[in-house]
Amino acid sequence: MLVPLPAPAADGSEAFTQYCGVCHGVDGEGLDGAGVNLLGSEFVRRASERELVEFLQTGRLADDPASRTGRPMPEFSWLSETELPTIAAFLKSAGSSSVRN
Ligand code: HEC
Repeated sequence: MLVPLPAPAADGSEAFTQYCGVCHGVDGEGLDGAGVNLLGSEFVRRASERELVEFLQTGRLADDPASRTGRPMPEFSWLSETELPTIAAFLKSAGSSSVRN
C-alpha cells in the first residue's frame, strides 16, 4: 500500500483560501454578510497562534457573548494538527502586515 507523503509545509494561504476564503475572502479581507475582515482584526492581533488554533477548533456560536455579527463562525476541529497551526500563522502574518500601530 502506498502511503502518501506529507505535503511540504505550506504557508497556510492555500488552506486559508480553501477553507476560509468563501466567507472571509481569499486574502482575509472579509465579505459583506459573511465572514469579518481578519486583516485588521483586534482578536487576531491579540491572540497567540496557539489561541487561534483553539478558536478554530471551537468556532464561535451566533449567541456567543463575543459574537461581533450574530453570525456563526464554524468550527474546524476536523482539520489536521498540522494544518491548523499553518492557518493560524498565516492569520498572524496577514494581520500584522496590514495593521500598523
Ligand atoms: C461559513 C462562513 C465562515 C467560514 C467558512 C469561516 N468563517 Fe471565520 N468567521 C465567520 C463569521 C460570520 C465570523 C464572525 C463571528 C462573529 O460575529 O463574532 C468569523 C470570525 C472569525 C474570526 C474572529 C475574528 C474576530 O475579529 O473576532 C477568525 C479569527 C476567523 N473567523 C477565522 C476563520 C478561519 C481561519 C477560517 C477557515 C479555517 C474561517 N474563519 C472560516 C464566518 C466564517
